[in-house]
Formats: sequence, C-alpha cells, structure tokens
Amino acid sequence: MLDTLLTSIDQLLAVQASGGPKRGKDMAVLPVVENGAIGIKDGKIAFVGTTEEVKGLDAKEIIDCKGKIVTPGLVDPHTHLVFGGSREHEMALKQQGVSYLEILAQGGGILSTVNATKNTSEEELFRKGWFHLNRSLRLGVTTMEAKSGYGLDRETELKQLRVAKRLNEAHDIDLVSTFLGAHAVPAEYKDMPEKFLESMLDVLPQIKEEGLAEFVDIFCETGVFTVEQSRRFLERAKDLGFNVKIHADEIVPLGGTEMACEIGAITADHLVGVSEEGIKMLAASETIAVLLPGTTFYLGKDSYAPARSIIEAGGTVALSTDFNPGSSPTENLQFIMNLAALRLKMKPEEIWNAVTVNAAYAIGRGSEAGAIETGRWADLVLWDAPNYQYLPYHYGVNHVNTVWKKGKKAEG
Ligand code: NIG
Ligand code: FE
Repeated sequence: MLDTLLTSIDQLLAVQASGGPKRGKDMAVLPVVENGAIGIKDGKIAFVGTTEEVKGLDAKEIIDCKGKIVTPGLVDPHTHLVFGGSREHEMALKQQGVSYLEILAQGGGILSTVNATKNTSEEELFRKGWFHLNRSLRLGVTTMEAKSGYGLDRETELKQLRVAKRLNEAHDIDLVSTFLGAHAVPAEYKDMPEKFLESMLDVLPQIKEEGLAEFVDIFCETGVFTVEQSRRFLERAKDLGFNVKIHADEIVPLGGTEMACEIGAITADHLVGVSEEGIKMLAASETIAVLLPGTTFYLGKDSYAPARSIIEAGGTVALSTDFNPGSSPTENLQFIMNLAALRLKMKPEEIWNAVTVNAAYAIGRGSEAGAIETGRWADLVLWDAPNYQYLPYHYGVNHVNTVWKKGKKAEG
C-alpha cells in the first residue's frame, strides 16, 4: 500500500534529469503528463504516470489535485543564507544614487554585514537562517545552496559554515555549502588582496577535514578581486579537492566568465556583462550559467544577463534568488521566475528547467534533486495554478498549495 497518492494532476512536470542538465534548445523541452498521478512510499517516488494507470491502487492518503499542477521541489542554487543584521539603512543611499560598489568602497555593503556577522552568536545565526529557510520552503524550495563570505577571517567563516551544516542536518531543506571567504577585501588587508587570499586558502584544509563545504567561490569584480587573482585562487582550491564557482561579470564586465570556462568551474554566476566570447565558451563547456535577475532588478539596472543569447548559443542556464542582505534581499524564487520571463525573455519551459534540473546540477545534486523520477526522494510541490505557464505570468504572490520533502508535508 502506498503512503500517499496524488491523482488528477492537471499537469505533472515529470522533469527528467537523466542525461545531464538541459542545454540550449533542449531547455525548451519539458515533459508534461496531463491528468497525472504520483505514488509515494517510504518518502520516495514509487510511481509516476497517469490517473488512469493508478485506478484501483490503494494508499493511506489520496489527494485529488484537479485544477492544479505538481512539479519537483524548486532548487535555489546561489544564496548567501547565513548572515548577521540587515541593510535597510542602505536604501536611502541607493535612492540618492550612491552605487553598490561605492557603498562597498566606503566600508559599507558587504563589509557592514561582515561586522554584523562577527558580532552575532552562532545560536542567533542559526535562528535567523532557520527563519529564512522556513520562508524559502513555504515558497516551494526544497534544496538550496548556502555561501559563507560574511566573516573574511578564519573564525567567522567557519562559524557561518558550521551554522549551515547544522541547518542542513536540522531543517527539511537540503543545503549545499560553498566557501566564499574571498567575498571582499577586509579593512585590515586593504591594498594587500593577495595576502588576504592566501589567508583564506589557509582555511581550506580545515574546511575539508570538517566537511564544511563542497564548493569554493570568489567575487571577481572591480575593486574586489581581479580575474588573475580569481584564477590563481580557484586553481589552488581545485588542487585542494574543491569544485569551484565564481561571481563573474556582475557589475563591470571583466572576463570572469571566460576564465571560469577555462578552469572548468561548475558554474559562473551573474554574467550580466558577459562578452560574446564568454557566451561561446559557455556553450562549448560544461560550466553552467547561473543567472540572478533579482540582483539586477534590485541594483536598479536596465540591462539584464543575455539569457537568450546564452541559451541559443547552446549554453546551460539555471536561475537563482542570490538571496543576500545587500543586492537581493528576497527568498522568493517564484518572483525570479517572473523576472526571467519579463526581463530575460526566457520561455516558461526554460524557466522550469532552470529552477529544477539545471539548478540541481549547478550544485552537484543532479541525480538527487530537481526531477520527478521513481526511486528518488519525493520532493514535490503542488501549486494552485492551472498550468505551468501560469507561474511565470502571475507575479508577486505565493502559488504554493503543498510542499512535500522526502514524502512528508513540510510547512516551514
Ligand atoms: O551576489 N556580489 C557579491 N555578493 C552578493 C552580494 C552580497 C552583499 O551585498 O551582501 C551578490 O550580489
Ligand atoms: Fe551572490
């Protein structure tokens, strides 16, 4: 007997991950089962098919999903989840036209969150992280990445990563950790970025030993780290056994994307200013482009990442919130799907692939998350939507009806 049986699903997005992430035109292909059904047993998907096929099957709970759709739990592959404080005081500066990088150069921005994070206890960081995770879960996210980067010293970076590890163990959302010690140059290393990067590389053996992060990331940007510094840093991280990611071409186009493809980074993230050459290299490489239109929106820019060119050239695109207290204070991946439709001109099918299967591959979880397949954990969302085109269209509200994590209703 099944534990749960979902029947009469208007559209079941049976996103299949086998074969790797969806690339180029393939991203517009979305397998949909009309009048679908899903059976769940012991937390795993025991059956995927049509309602016709499950006639006569018994389950402890049968849920009629008429008028609704079911998709894989969303995957948010780029967040800065664990931080102290918040930055609403920067709003007035933003309104006066002070730019994000100017605020950072004046010792604010990321550096103000670094101070707040240093002064916040591990317990309080855990409580705050838990609060944000609950919100993400209620918005349909079941797997997420979490970066450090608000410590910029050994002790505080490790504190953030340990909080993320505990959150992963305790919360329904599965968390994948990334070390972003190279997020900004702290005041005590001003004019000595190389020395600072050395000090962050020195933390990596301990991170490996304690199993605190799978990925290493760097903010490659004017006034932060150059492409060459980033290359050397990430190459060293790779030598120490980490997969690497990069914040590339977010504000000023520097060529971080090309470098990411050259060194085999698993993802290059942001890419607002990616060059033609960078787009070609993405298409020819395995590096996934993680696009974060919420950040472009929140920084008040008019020009968004060239998603269409990347997809049409044959690249692989994932979407994420970039949830953080400065450039994208939102946990709402559904709103990012709206922005992807409106500003990135992505098709509904591409958007769903970008927040499920491709997002899962972007954090090394392609064979576990982001797809509905028999034998996988039942991470599912039932949406109050008549079809999958509806979510990218109807914006600013939460369309979630029910979230299941490992087969259990998860409320957050
Ligand atoms: O992805 N660009 C660097 N890091 C974040 C912002 C972090 C912050 O402002 O606190 C980003 O935009
Ligand atoms: Fe980021």
